[in-house]
Amino acid sequence: MPRKPFVGGNWKCNGTIASGTELAETLKNGSVMYKNAVEVVICPVAPQINMLSKIFKRSPLNVGAQNFSKDAEGAFTGEITASMLKDVGVNWSLIGHSERRTKYGETDEICAAKVEKAQEAKLSIIFCIGELLEEREKEETDAVNKRMLDAVIPKITDWSKVVIAYEPVWAIGTGKVATPDQAQDAHAAIRKMLPEAAAEKVRILYGGSVTTDNCKELIGKEDIDGFLVGGASLKPTFTDIITACVPVKPLTKPEFRKVSSIEPEQRGVSFYGKVLKAAESAGEDASTVVVGDETATVTLRVRGDRASTCEVGKVMRVQNAKVIMVKGFIQVQIDKWAALALSDVEIGEVNTKKDISGVEYELTST
Ligand code: PGA
Repeated sequence: MPRKPFVGGNWKCNGTIASGTELAETLKNGSVMYKNAVEVVICPVAPQINMLSKIFKRSPLNVGAQNFSKDAEGAFTGEITASMLKDVGVNWSLIGHSERRTKYGETDEICAAKVEKAQEAKLSIIFCIGELLEEREKEETDAVNKRMLDAVIPKITDWSKVVIAYEPVWAIGTGKVATPDQAQDAHAAIRKMLPEAAAEKVRILYGGSVTTDNCKELIGKEDIDGFLVGGASLKPTFTDIITACVPVKPLTKPEFRKVSSIEPEQRGVSFYGKVLKAAESAGEDASTVVVGDETATVTLRVRGDRASTCEVGKVMRVQNAKVIMVKGFIQVQIDKWAALALSDVEIGEVNTKKDISGVEYELTST
């Protein structure tokens, strides 16, 4: 089973009821782009947890806490326990974020105590690890990650309730992002540090200055299963980062169905296709490009500036496109929510005689 992509939004100590509500509503609306293809957990400040739970009801979005107590219930003024989070319906929390480690003295021992409490309460966790700049410069990245993991591994009995976030401290909130190769190397090393039975199943997220611009290349790496996002999770475009994590299914055998039950439009379609015909201008800064595989061809409507990538013979990866019927033909729209990129996937020769006309067929899934 491939690992389901996971994206966490860490709102840190930001926002008001008004700004949190507006952002949460926007994110909820955007979730139609990925539905349940990505597991998403938003961690607001504690006073907004209840509000977000209500907004996210009947949406694929989940709410998480940023912190909880290492202790049990009792005379611990100011603390909130793992079981209290569960009691109000919160199923996730961060543990060991670098800001808690460096600004609030959260040691490996404290993290271990919190992991133990989370496991007892059946609270799922995003456990954060990562090295400081001077540790990376001394090539201690793997040693630091191992130390942080080794401190908590003995406390974990249920790995299905654990996600790991690798966040190099020098990349958090600095605009300096690890290169995809640096991140992949660290993630692969972390996977090897996990108990064998859990290693292939545990999601390992990258965190540290993730943006809409750098997320696509990072998510393409084998051991990067998603992101923990700080600053960029406070913007409506956070949806684009989540959407970039939707796994692309190849267009080997798309399903086509008779038009009798057609819906006028459908969103979230992803596929590969070979460019068969060079882009033609379709007015208003848009172009049409015909792509396909051995089972079907479709017309893409793309923004004018994207058309130049679509050279005849190249295989394009289309993600989250909108499919509509135009004058009886299927047209796939690459709008602001959709992605179009060159792909290195090989597909066979295309039989252009099998054009799919909306008069007869509807593209139902890929
Ligand atoms: P950033 O924060 O995305 O703003 O760098 C990441 C985090 O702190 O989890």
